[in-house]
Amino acid sequence: MKTVRLALVGVGNVGQRLLTLIDERRETLSKEYQLDFLLTCVADSSGVAMNDSGFELAALVCHKASRGRLAELPEFCAGLSFTDALERASCDILLETSPLDLETGDPGLANSRAALQQGMHVVLANKSPLALAHSELLDLAAKNDVGILYSATFCGGLPVLNVIRRDMVCGNITRFRGIFNGTTNFMLAEMLAGNDYASALQQAQDIGAAEADPSFDVGGWDTAAKLVIAANQFCDPMISLPDVDVTGIKNVSASDLQNCRQEGKSIKLVASAELIDDTWGFKVEPKAVPTESFLGSCNGWEMGVVIDSDIFGKSFYKLREDEPIPTAASVLRDAVHLATGGRQASL
Ligand SMILES: NC(=O)c1ccc[n+]([C@@H]2O[C@H](COP(=O)([O-])OP(=O)(O)OC[C@H]3O[C@@H](n4cnc5c(N)ncnc54)[C@H](OP(=O)(O)O)[C@@H]3O)[C@@H](O)[C@H]2O)c1
Repeated sequence: MKTVRLALVGVGNVGQRLLTLIDERRETLSKEYQLDFLLTCVADSSGVAMNDSGFELAALVCHKASRGRLAELPEFCAGLSFTDALERASCDILLETSPLDLETGDPGLANSRAALQQGMHVVLANKSPLALAHSELLDLAAKNDVGILYSATFCGGLPVLNVIRRDMVCGNITRFRGIFNGTTNFMLAEMLAGNDYASALQQAQDIGAAEADPSFDVGGWDTAAKLVIAANQFCDPMISLPDVDVTGIKNVSASDLQNCRQEGKSIKLVASAELIDDTWGFKVEPKAVPTESFLGSCNGWEMGVVIDSDIFGKSFYKLREDEPIPTAASVLRDAVHLATGGRQASL
């Protein structure tokens, strides 16, 4: 049995579900993978708590689910920064589930850099570090002989990054499109059904799917960050956020949705990477697609991806994720891969 010491940043929607999964699947982790996950260092917006023997996960989740702060726990380390805590904790894997920040990338970017520099593997649900510093982090991981995996950053539980990296051997992607944000897809469906924008957004927040700052969802930036992360699996040179032309759904009205519906079309927030004259172009925009098409058939909490390739045909991927368990499961999957020796980005 291998004991794996975990550090977790963020105990919100994803973090709490992740801890619950680790607790519930402890026997599977032990029997099938010979792993014993021990959470010894954890951070929320109030600071860091440490427990060298491992936190009791159900109690921690219960505390956070009832709006408790880590600062209220006896294990809280007042005044200790997370990066200093990492040095003390000697963990094996950092799990990063703090909020999206596409200006500075922090705290996720600073935490990822610190962990990699200290020789820890990193698993990301937070897209910011990759959206802003993908190649730097890959280099840091290689230099320190550790892995960084991030399958949860792209469409939650949909294992598309893994398919690109692992399965499209010797292939080239020639077009990549999809609906990558469940919150906006749900909001558009609700607005078409006659519900208003604000109450649709509130519902998405209530189930824990919307970003902490929902302007990232409705402004198209969450989708753009995912497009950057996916494109960097197959585009050379790598791209960054300013390469994407981004329009969100704020100006889409219920009457736009209804008029399109009468013409057999549905408005979706579509992300695309298209090759035009051998040059890639990247866009996120509300687009009217035929309702009968694959993307037109992705409704509400469904996300969908279409990949055109030279030797692997045209493939279609769809996931319904109406709460963040699949995202948490993807973080767990990556942690298991790293703990059992898998290093490939998004293997
Ligand atoms: N929700 C989803 O369906 C989903 C899907 C895919 C990816 N993601 C990504 O996963 C990440 C987490 O999402 P979420 O829905 O779990 O967010 P969330 O519910 O808002 O939780 C965020 C957590 O991060 C903590 N936090 C905030 N600022 C911090 C700081 N400076 N240092 C340490 N911790 C800090 C918060 O602390 P408090 O508890 O004290 O507020 C909270 O525990 C985001 O980056 C998001 O983009 C989410």
